[in-house]
Amino acid sequence: MNPITKDFTPTIAIVYHSSYGHTRRVAHAIARGANAQLDAKALDILQLSDDDWAYLDNADLIVFGSAVYMGSVTAAFKAFMDSTSKRWVARTWQGKFAAGFANSGGLSGDKLAVLQQITLFAMQHGMNWVGMPLMPTGSSEQDLNRLSSFLGLMTQSIDAPVEETPCEGDMATALWFGEHLAQTVLRFVGNR
Ligand SMILES: Cc1cc2nc3c(=O)[nH]c(=O)nc-3n(C[C@H](O)[C@H](O)[C@H](O)COP(=O)(O)O)c2cc1C
Repeated sequence: MNPITKDFTPTIAIVYHSSYGHTRRVAHAIARGANAQLDAKALDILQLSDDDWAYLDNADLIVFGSAVYMGSVTAAFKAFMDSTSKRWVARTWQGKFAAGFANSGGLSGDKLAVLQQITLFAMQHGMNWVGMPLMPTGSSEQDLNRLSSFLGLMTQSIDAPVEETPCEGDMATALWFGEHLAQTVLRFVGNR
């Protein structure tokens, strides 16, 4: 959508796949961070309604997030990627901003491979990638960007209930990422 002709509040869609809820929690934290400044919604790829697809198509920025399965996005997330091929042909998302996050059990867990997969997907759609510029404050569970990721957001969820993991630092980083993405949209798209 041409930002010049856009006549409503800028929006960010966070579209994610989560089997056990940890990645969902991160998606909602990004939305909370962004919602302080504009309209943001976290959307589960397994429950996308026509309205949700319209929200995605109208969004100024789409954040793609997946749990890591076998060093890759999950099969469900890949099915979502493939389901966008008509939009790829029509260039529906071209010119929008894009960002990504990966959540997994391991400290590394090959999250970088997932962020690279998501970046390439966004590039195929002609989107403009927004990375993660936050300098790590350290590597403890209270620290921001403790996993030292710059391509996108990385969070770790160990084998524990959703209320306990990802850790405090990772959740604060997700909130920060949402705020940063909202500021980026407002800087380049404006607040109409
Ligand atoms: C089939 C399968 C494959 C997985 N592969 C990886 C992996 O490659 N790297 C990793 O760190 N964690 C891996 N995990 C762990 C998940 O990433 C982790 O449990 C994560 O919390 C799942 O997110 P969710 O709660 O949102 O579903 C795997 C889990 C499953 C079930």
